[in-house]
Amino acid sequence: MAFASLPKNPVVAVAGATGAVGREMLLVLEQLEFPAARVVALASKRSAGATLPFAGGELTVEEMRPESFEGVDIALFSAGAEVSRQMRPAVVAAGAVMIDNSSAFRMEPDVPLVVPEVNPDDAFAHHGVIANPNCSTIQMVVALGPLHRVASLKRVVVATYQAASGAGAAAMDELYNQSRQFLDGEELDIKHFAHRIAFNCIPQIDVFLDDGSTKEEWKMVVETKKILHAPEVEVAVSCVRVPVLRCHAEALHVEFEAPISVEQARGVLAAAEGVVLMDDPAEKTYPMPGLLAGTDPVYVGRLRKDPTVEHGLAFWNVADQLRKGAALNAVQIAQLLLTR
Ligand code: HSE
Repeated sequence: MAFASLPKNPVVAVAGATGAVGREMLLVLEQLEFPAARVVALASKRSAGATLPFAGGELTVEEMRPESFEGVDIALFSAGAEVSRQMRPAVVAAGAVMIDNSSAFRMEPDVPLVVPEVNPDDAFAHHGVIANPNCSTIQMVVALGPLHRVASLKRVVVATYQAASGAGAAAMDELYNQSRQFLDGEELDIKHFAHRIAFNCIPQIDVFLDDGSTKEEWKMVVETKKILHAPEVEVAVSCVRVPVLRCHAEALHVEFEAPISVEQARGVLAAAEGVVLMDDPAEKTYPMPGLLAGTDPVYVGRLRKDPTVEHGLAFWNVADQLRKGAALNAVQIAQLLLTR
């Protein structure tokens, strides 16, 4: 099926509008002044009739049904993989472009996996569905992409420090509530994480795979290769949930094929789209997840040589998981589609 070009002022549906990412999608559409003719908020039957603030007014949430997509040009989805799978045929049949935040379609060869700063051209090869990568992948490739272009990545070793927001709004509430319960000496309610998250770190995100890694770790490996068009790059990942509300952080050790100095990398990152270099050890300046919630860039700091390999660099990055890691990246893909 060939997709017609989008109107200048598309009708936009936000599917999963009442969730943490859905709400942020509405906020980003408003803040970026996305030129939507109309925005439709869709969610499960349970949330139908609720109101959400939007652009100085309110949107009434409608129950998401296959018919909801008639007349829609762009459907931003963040309602879980199962709902995305169920609704995909209706969205595509309606001629809308689905920009999907779930993991349902990311590795399908015909589905572009897009980070606009890194692989914008891929977006235009879509067949009705474009996937938004996993949050921890997005913030990593925004920094790695420009370095890869100058010195070719060979191997990436990364440990993540992922916020509660990655598990949804209820998981953020769980972190709040458990912290209070812990300090008050009460019994802790544990529902959304495998263990207590308050005053703890959990080295498990998503399910375990047969090789002992987790699905979150696997996603970061395969998605990074797909986005960078670099199947040869080796990626080793450990993902950890930490008691932070909404910014993910990552510690990276990167080996390149070609020589690259710290000064050169600093210049590349300072000029890179979507990156803010926050790196002044003398002033104890580096990005910290507790202080950057609600902001858009991927912040990079602690940039230094990794002397254990021939062409090595180490650095640390932080980004708001709900913004660049999810809602902002999805809306940026929609903006990108309107440019051609
Ligand atoms: N899988 C991520 C997390 C959310 O659990 O933090 C990414 O969208």
